[in-house]
Amino acid sequence: MSSENLKSQIRNFWNENPCGSKFAKVEVGSKEFFDQVEQHRYLTEWHIPEMLNFPAWAGKKVLEVGCGLGTDAISFARAGAKYTGIDLTPRSIELVKRRFLQENLSADLQVADAETLPFDDNTFDLTYSHGVLHHTPNTHQAINELHRVLKPGGKAMVMLYHKHSYNYYGNIMLFRKLGAKILYYDWGPELVNRVTGEDLAALKRLQSDLRQNPRKFFSSEEFLNQNTDGAGNPLAKVYTREEGKQLFAKFSEVDTEVRFLNKRWIPLLGRFLPRSLESPMSKLWGWHLWIIGRK
Ligand SMILES: C[S@@+](CC[C@H](N)C(=O)[O-])C[C@H]1O[C@@H](n2cnc3c(N)ncnc32)[C@H](O)[C@@H]1O
Repeated sequence: MSSENLKSQIRNFWNENPCGSKFAKVEVGSKEFFDQVEQHRYLTEWHIPEMLNFPAWAGKKVLEVGCGLGTDAISFARAGAKYTGIDLTPRSIELVKRRFLQENLSADLQVADAETLPFDDNTFDLTYSHGVLHHTPNTHQAINELHRVLKPGGKAMVMLYHKHSYNYYGNIMLFRKLGAKILYYDWGPELVNRVTGEDLAALKRLQSDLRQNPRKFFSSEEFLNQNTDGAGNPLAKVYTREEGKQLFAKFSEVDTEVRFLNKRWIPLLGRFLPRSLESPMSKLWGWHLWIIGRK
């Protein structure tokens, strides 16, 4: 598949499935909707405000690449940052604009591609991207773009999915692969829909892919695509800490940190895991690999 074709599939997927919207049960775009999305995000991914330290960016120029539903966007703006956000999809930018209007805050919000940023060199104090660049075909080019638009001495923070994690080896490659065999059966998609809440039409499309070409369906790449951000996702990739550092080769100081155990996918025990255990475990086997660099 050509890179342009893949990019347009990626745009269509995220335009139809704005990231995180399934965690709110009210009208999309309403104040209550954004409140529920935010509550869910910072309850389950409680490390994000810790990692970003929003108040530290007051008065600074922050660029977020792939702003999704804008929860971190609004947190930067509430803390007084001069916020710019881009996303590949018009839907995301339309929703984030609405969110800023509701809170009477301002931001520069644009539809744009991470791989070719529409900004001058040396513009921002912080370039940030969370859960985005493993979904774009040329991740390395996108990270070089974050470097280009960063001021000398500025900081880049990027979260990519972590390969050496419980979620990758345990949940996706073991439990989900076993579970996916259920999709072979006529009753499979409905059962999986009831248990996981995944979209039934997307599961039926997966069933047809599985029946047509089981080898491709169970290949590591394709299985990962379909088991991170919902069925039908055209592209997802995973990285080790070393690979993350290599992507940041242009930066002068580079560090990595691992967070987020994704404990809802730990059968039986996950929901009972106290924060005192979750926190050290997530630093070892977490799903979110943060790569932090200085220009
Ligand atoms: C998993 S969501 C993450 C959104 C948000 N950063 C968050 O943490 O909730 C992925 C987002 O990345 C956007 N995206 C994917 N590829 C992109 C690209 N090449 N350029 C800009 N945004 C992209 C999608 O449109 C989607 O909104």
